[in-house]
Amino acid sequence: MIFIIFLLTLLSHSTTNASVLDFCVADLSSSQTPSGYPCKKSVTINDFVYSNFNSGNTSTNFFKFSITPAFVNQFPAVNGLGLSAAKLDLDVGGIIPMHSHRGASELMIVVQGRITAGFISSDNTVFIKTLSKGQILVLPQGLLHFQYNAGRNKASAYLTFSSENPGSQVLDLALFGNNLSSANLIKSTLLDPAQVKKLKAIFGGSG
Ligand SMILES: *[C@@H]1O[C@H](CO)[C@@H](O)[C@H](O)[C@H]1NC(C)=O
Ligand SMILES: *[C@@H]1O[C@H](CO)[C@@H](O)[C@H](O)[C@H]1NC(C)=O
Repeated sequence: MIFIIFLLTLLSHSTTNASVLDFCVADLSSSQTPSGYPCKKSVTINDFVYSNFNSGNTSTNFFKFSITPAFVNQFPAVNGLGLSAAKLDLDVGGIIPMHSHRGASELMIVVQGRITAGFISSDNTVFIKTLSKGQILVLPQGLLHFQYNAGRNKASAYLTFSSENPGSQVLDLALFGNNLSSANLIKSTLLDPAQVKKLKAIFGGSG
């Protein structure tokens, strides 16, 4: 009897969690809700294919990196599936500055060159490693992390995320790319006023 009740509990639990649809390709013409986009009415196999990862994108930004995202806004098929991908290309000397993804863990699969990557746990322990082609690093959800090219040639990696919309907060931009006042920044970081001014100029901050 207890066993049957246990089975019934399991069964009802799994049916409440079961997805009612096979898939829900995002209808990007509607707006996103906390549970994702509404479903596109008619889909074909081509909706499930993403073809925009080229090889060796060159960066134009300060940090010499290029990210090509295949998140839900670029690849609507991942809507509701809790996963997405991106291609990372690092020029010689390129770096992805310290950042975090509130909504996703990340796998970095190195496919070219050598990449040093690391993350900082919430007790402020540093975990860092240089990886070469074929190696994978996991970057746990929500933790600050960074990647840089550790070789003498271009480096690239495929990234996968445990969310269709991982979100990204870059530490430098959060601090120096908005109108948080210099007085506050100097107080809260103990940086010199000249450093704060310099970093605000680089990252587009004001105030
Ligand atoms: C990288 O390549 C993709 C696909 O061609 C393109 O959409 C994206 O803008 C490129 N990024 C840079 C920084 O060149
Ligand atoms: C900072 O910017 C926000 C909008 O981005 C604005 O609402 C706010 O008034 C600004 N604060 C100051 C002190 O300029």
